[in-house]
Amino acid sequence: MQALRGDQAEGARRMMQPKPVRVLAIASGKGGVGKTNISVNLGIAFTELGRQVALMDADMGLANIDVLLGLQPIFNLSHMLSGERTLAEIIVRGPGGLSIVPAASGMQRMSELSAAEQAGIIRAFGEIDQEFDVFIVDTAAGISSGVVNFARACQNVAIIVCDEPTSLTDAYAFIKLLNRDYGVYGFQIIANMVADARQGQALFNKLCKVADRYLEVALNYLGAIPQDDDLRKAVQRQAPVILAYPQSKSARAFKEMARNMDAMPIAARVGGQLEFFVERMISYSNSRIAAIA
Ligand SMILES: Nc1ncnc2c1ncn2[C@@H]1O[C@H](COP(=O)(O)OP(=O)(O)O)[C@@H](O)[C@H]1O
Ligand SMILES: [Mg+2]
Repeated sequence: MQALRGDQAEGARRMMQPKPVRVLAIASGKGGVGKTNISVNLGIAFTELGRQVALMDADMGLANIDVLLGLQPIFNLSHMLSGERTLAEIIVRGPGGLSIVPAASGMQRMSELSAAEQAGIIRAFGEIDQEFDVFIVDTAAGISSGVVNFARACQNVAIIVCDEPTSLTDAYAFIKLLNRDYGVYGFQIIANMVADARQGQALFNKLCKVADRYLEVALNYLGAIPQDDDLRKAVQRQAPVILAYPQSKSARAFKEMARNMDAMPIAARVGGQLEFFVERMISYSNSRIAAIA
């Protein structure tokens, strides 16, 4: 029998199983290192590659996605849980065709869900008509149980670091916790606000050096986003830099990073359908509560 060509094999595979979703949690130990900007701009860069992208706002802090995009979502996941709205109804269309799941206040209730509510939310993500290719979770700063649960559920965590001593030590502490306590082994690293590519690589090398010495982890460098005044100007205009200043150096870096990531295979344990991710997220938050009780 003639072997299937690559694209035919891919087509056959797609027909047999649902499309895997690239799930990525954006985290950092320290706040203000650019998580929300990276989530939004990377997300839009993926839509420019023809991907359907959902962005979940899991940052309960102040400068979150709706502020950055000048959106005012009325509903969030808590309204879906209470049955007032469907998942499709709470999703907000953002610039660049991004679909945003406003989850802020809903997430605080995640650990208190009844079994029926859990089943409902998992089913909602499974039944949603729109198929997403990429699901990005913008997490809060710090090492709260919520952030840890998101990162564990995603299995694919991008840690943002910048050239400040506390950024590196906090990133290391976060990696150590996820690795030692939760068995997360692989981490993606993005350097932000760097002067040049060399500084980004040097930051990554520093982090690798300590991680290699004390932990059993694999760090993969996704690249760097330069320090860019246009990004700051865009934030003030409540617009993502990739749309406000598409030719800026940070916008170009976001596009390149998305292209590179898009070419990476979705590892079996990293991908999977969205409802599996949500299921994991809920069961982890429950196990955390059970452990404390
Ligand atoms: N690449 C960059 N160049 C210049 N300024 C940046 C860059 N990334 C982030 N910033 C600045 O840092 C601020 C915080 O970014 P934000 O994405 O809100 O961080 P976080 O979500 O981690 O708290 C932004 O408002 C912006 O002023
Ligand atoms: Mg943020």
